[in-house]
Amino acid sequence: MAIQWFPGHMTKAVRAMEEDIKLVDLLIELADARIPISSRNPEFDRIAGSKLRMVIMNKSDLADEQANKAWLSYYEANNISAVLMDARSSKGTGELKKKIADLCAAKKARDLKRGIKNRPVRAMVVGIPNVGKSTFINTYAGRAVAKTGNKPGVTRGKQWIKLAKDLELLDTPGVLWPKFDDEATGMHLAMIGSISDDILDKQEIACGIIGFMEERYAGRLKERYEEDYDGTPYEMLERIALKKGCLKKGGEADLDKCAGMITDDLRSMKLGRITIELPEDIIQK
Ligand code: G4P
Repeated sequence: MAIQWFPGHMTKAVRAMEEDIKLVDLLIELADARIPISSRNPEFDRIAGSKLRMVIMNKSDLADEQANKAWLSYYEANNISAVLMDARSSKGTGELKKKIADLCAAKKARDLKRGIKNRPVRAMVVGIPNVGKSTFINTYAGRAVAKTGNKPGVTRGKQWIKLAKDLELLDTPGVLWPKFDDEATGMHLAMIGSISDDILDKQEIACGIIGFMEERYAGRLKERYEEDYDGTPYEMLERIALKKGCLKKGGEADLDKCAGMITDDLRSMKLGRITIELPEDIIQK
């Protein structure tokens, strides 16, 4: 599946980030815990330069708990500051504040030596569309400061948000990157709904989900759809459509409808908590 999707406003957003990074001490990157590889925009590496960085693995409530642990160990082993988060709950914010303070301690000490007291840490929050940036900022701030939009690519202007006496955040619009360099990246983003559903082939995404579920979480398709996996993902899609009554007028399988159902089921955890990408997949890239 070749996906190229980089609307003009995203090019502009990247340019703005290149400028704004000069104003901050720290780059906070939100990744989706279900696809920690594909949800991290490679542009951010270039934009970050030598700035301090931190990764928030958001939507960890939807991801496989074992995989969440594996990712934390991976980041720790690679000296990357990372936390698991469900941005809708304020539970993890204490730990996050502490991590940010630890990360910025050396910088604060340097400021103090130069006679700069109480200068707040400024952080830029980045992430692909729909990863939960607005939700995170609102929860962290304890009030509604960022607009939430559920369609990928909603444009927002530049926003500085004072979270505490010693922390200010800069929200940025969600950005994807010009061309996904392998097919799996596009498929994985599509599976969790980070790419607008209107520009992709529904059946192809559903077949991707079926193939993945069978490989990584064998048995869960059967549990949900009462169909044994057999043949190709496409044949399985047809059988699930018939079994679950996704039918056109003449009684023929309505594959688009069935594909939509399977995709919704994956995104709403009806197929259980899932993680699509594991640390070991990095090596294979
Ligand atoms: P964005 O600014 O990065 O584009 O994302 P936004 O905060 O708008 O979040 C996108 C969707 O993801 C929202 O759902 C939001 O509630 C959900 N979300 C954000 N963080 C988490 C999380 O950690 N866990 C889970 N399970 N969901 C999360 P929505 O369906 O678009 O809106 P709503 O129905 O929640 O209002």
